[in-house]
Amino acid sequence: MSRTPLIAGNWKMNTTIEEAVSLIKTMQPGLEKLRGVEKVICPPFISLMAARAIIGGSTVKLGAQNVFYEEKGAFTGEVSPAMLAGLCDYVIIGHSERRQYFGETNEIIEKKIKAAVKVGLRPIFCVGETLEENEAGQTKEVLGRQLLASADRFYFLGGCVIAYEPVWAIGTGKSASGDDANKTIGFIRQFISKRHGNGIANTVRILYGGSVNAANIAEYMRKSDIDGALVGGASLRADEFLSIVKQASDIKGV
Ligand code: PGA
Repeated sequence: MSRTPLIAGNWKMNTTIEEAVSLIKTMQPGLEKLRGVEKVICPPFISLMAARAIIGGSTVKLGAQNVFYEEKGAFTGEVSPAMLAGLCDYVIIGHSERRQYFGETNEIIEKKIKAAVKVGLRPIFCVGETLEENEAGQTKEVLGRQLLASADRFYFLGGCVIAYEPVWAIGTGKSASGDDANKTIGFIRQFISKRHGNGIANTVRILYGGSVNAANIAEYMRKSDIDGALVGGASLRADEFLSIVKQASDIKGV
């Protein structure tokens, strides 16, 4: 069963519009040449329009970093799924920074995934355990809870991608080993298989995220269950991001 690898760059709260435009213009020609891998960039909301204008109908796809679940109304500062539909292909939902700093619960995340899929956006649904949970041997239990809340069959049929991001590996330079990440991602796939059958489990793409860079991406891409990466810090450097996508394409490109 071959799954198209996916490399997504999560720019987080970095870059002004000008900086974003310049970064996309630098990356775009190189990214365009790399085939067999889905390439997604997720700049801040305010740069999405400019990004769309530059990447146009190219093979580079666009993602948002968040979305609200209501359709419209008095929700000051929020962005609705309909506002992103047609502008973005993907949307990151449930990132641990959203869970940690903005109080997003499994219930909120579920509502967001449902609302996103409804308008044709593909969620990049993030799950992961904290250091304390990891050290207490609770990784599977925590992931199980996070997945259970949002693992509706309909979401996967709608193109939902999962990103396994151990919280202790995000932005810390301390990444999970390829073997450990593959084992945990294998567990996630099994979990989905038990609930929705092998057909869905074998097609859903599951990414690893947490201090991925050009020096360690190959280790992840060589593993059976890892279908790509959600890249934070390293996605802000054009050369490094291109090298990550190139290695993914060389190792697992379809
Ligand atoms: P990082 O972030 O690559 O900077 O660790 C990953 C993420 O938060 O998605």
